[in-house]
Amino acid sequence: MTNIILYPSWQLKENHATARAAYMKRREFVKSLGLGTIGLSTLALGCSQAAHSASDPDGPLDTIPDNAPRDGYPAPRNAAFDVPERIVTDRIVASSYNNFYEFINQGDLKNVWPHTEQYEPFPGTIEIGGLAKKQTLDIADLIRSADLEERLYRFRCVEAWSMTVPWTGFPLADLVARCEPRNSARFVKFICVNRPEQLPGQAKATWYPWPYFEGLRMDEAMNELAFVATGLYGEPLPKQNGSPLRLVLPWKYGYKGPKAVVRIEFTRQQPETFWNKLQPREYGFLSNVNPNIPHPRWSQATERFLSTDGVEERIPTQIFNGYDEWVRALYPDAPRTYAGPIIR
Ligand code: MTE
Repeated sequence: MTNIILYPSWQLKENHATARAAYMKRREFVKSLGLGTIGLSTLALGCSQAAHSASDPDGPLDTIPDNAPRDGYPAPRNAAFDVPERIVTDRIVASSYNNFYEFINQGDLKNVWPHTEQYEPFPGTIEIGGLAKKQTLDIADLIRSADLEERLYRFRCVEAWSMTVPWTGFPLADLVARCEPRNSARFVKFICVNRPEQLPGQAKATWYPWPYFEGLRMDEAMNELAFVATGLYGEPLPKQNGSPLRLVLPWKYGYKGPKAVVRIEFTRQQPETFWNKLQPREYGFLSNVNPNIPHPRWSQATERFLSTDGVEERIPTQIFNGYDEWVRALYPDAPRTYAGPIIR
């Protein structure tokens, strides 16, 4: 996979209070770099960086649905999840450099937001199936009744690119509890929106096994870090970031966080997952961030992030993306040193 990385002025510290117009300059700079190369094979997941080609400066934020509930926004920041060693990713970048294959499947894959016009996340429900008592939840009611908080999380793409993003939402454990799963449930599967009439990528890319689906062990889903995001940078989620709600599992690679979840199933058996079905050798069920487990085609020992002055910085990848103390007990067999060949 070709992986050409651009290094625009990407991250700014605590900038989400900045007026939208102030993002314009940086966005023009990103644009001036041209489109990044999307070196993806048709069925390969790619998080390589690409510049967006927006002509509307506020476009990536104008996709926040008007009818998204705003009760409880902006939510108080939970200081337990501070990321002291990192600066916060530019808000516009987080909403204009996305992976959401339901909307786009060729060309500038990361430039998702211009393709979201037809998509209407609200009103909506989550259907519940399998080993659970509850059958359906209204998503707007769920958001309104949730105890919203903001968490700043590291985000690590499988292709060694990273962000730091403030999500608004509530613990996944709360959502699981509302579904009233039976004791026999060992896994939970999340299934995403399936509306080819609103999702152009889904309509065109018929070779993908739509809808997008992901899965977790129940103990992973109940972990304190597992989060249901309903917002980003103090406002409801823009469509391209997963409206009406999505999962954020910061110790796992980004593709384990399904967007626009509309169905949850509780199962005894380990469920299949979208990328694992497509490329089982490359995208495993656990997919935990671990510098000691290289991707078959590249190392995961380090990651790249963009500094405010456009200088590339490469930093060591942390086991479980820096969340070792929260999740290490879940994975006693995870390799903690690297013993394999050097892959660059
Ligand atoms: N969820 C759905 N429904 N469809 C997708 O294509 N892409 C995944 C994940 N969730 C994806 C998805 C991938 S590959 C990544 S890296 C993250 O969403 C990207 O989230 P972001 O665009 O908000 O940064």
